Amino acid sequence: MNPRLANQVAVVTGGGSGFGEAICHAFAAEGGRIVVADFNAAAGERVAQAIRAQGGEAEFCRADVSLTADMGQLATTAVARFGRVDVMVNNAGMSHPNQPMLGVTEAQFDRLYQVNVKSIYLSAVHFVPVFRRQGGGSFINIGSTAAVRPRPGLSWYNGSKGAVSLLTKSFAVELAPDRIRANSINPAIADTPLLTTFMGAADTPENRARFLASIPLGRLCRPSDVAHAALFLADPASEFITGVCLEVDGGRCI
Ligand SMILES: NC(=O)c1ccc[n+]([C@@H]2O[C@H](COP(=O)([O-])OP(=O)(O)OC[C@H]3O[C@@H](n4cnc5c(N)ncnc54)[C@H](O)[C@@H]3O)[C@@H](O)[C@H]2O)c1
Repeated sequence: MNPRLANQVAVVTGGGSGFGEAICHAFAAEGGRIVVADFNAAAGERVAQAIRAQGGEAEFCRADVSLTADMGQLATTAVARFGRVDVMVNNAGMSHPNQPMLGVTEAQFDRLYQVNVKSIYLSAVHFVPVFRRQGGGSFINIGSTAAVRPRPGLSWYNGSKGAVSLLTKSFAVELAPDRIRANSINPAIADTPLLTTFMGAADTPENRARFLASIPLGRLCRPSDVAHAALFLADPASEFITGVCLEVDGGRCI
């Protein structure tokens, strides 16, 4: 059987850790050619090298997704290295620590929306023209269950992920005539470096138990869960699916 992403070129932001790292590896294992983008050069280089060591094709590009110059350079690098871009995964994201809403400063709010929301705008500015020239492409945005079932203490983060969901649907309707798809994935809380930020507390067995109790399937989300969903949305087999915000959450949003 052919690899599911044979010859497809995918850009993955925040590819140096957590969900993004798992998506890079899953895509590369299915024949995808990967541009690992991250503002942490050591982390992104490590992932690109690991893919190459396993016989895959990967290039690292340093980019802060909140900066238009970096996102422009990312698109240019991807096209220069691989000739095209088929899938743009907007995964890089951050959160303020879990706390009462008025404890988050204006500066923290601005940074949060630059990284989680402005990045989606910049991905359109720099990748829609590439997709249009090629006759199509696919955006996969990493949202959150926070957009559907918000937790207290994360209000501004929740809002940023609500924007990701609505922008995904907006991209889908506006860009469909260009054969550009847009879908998002809403993961439940996961065991990545962001875990304690979301918990707003130490990662103790007691604190974990509180979060596990809110997930019917009884475990945290794993990076591989998100990677499998992203692979499905990137696979040409899902060519008729657009505007979907797919919960990968063990039932959290029911
Ligand atoms: N971990 C969770 O519980 C969880 C749950 C739902 C959604 N999410 C979302 O999933 C995505 C990935 O989260 P994760 O848990 O894998 O995080 P992570 O912290 O493990 O990895 C994020 C990566 O993004 C990079 N990054 C951060 N800001 C960046 C920027 N401005 N420019 C470029 N790179 C940047 C970091 O260097 C890091 O490599 C985020 O959008 C997050 O909001 C996470």
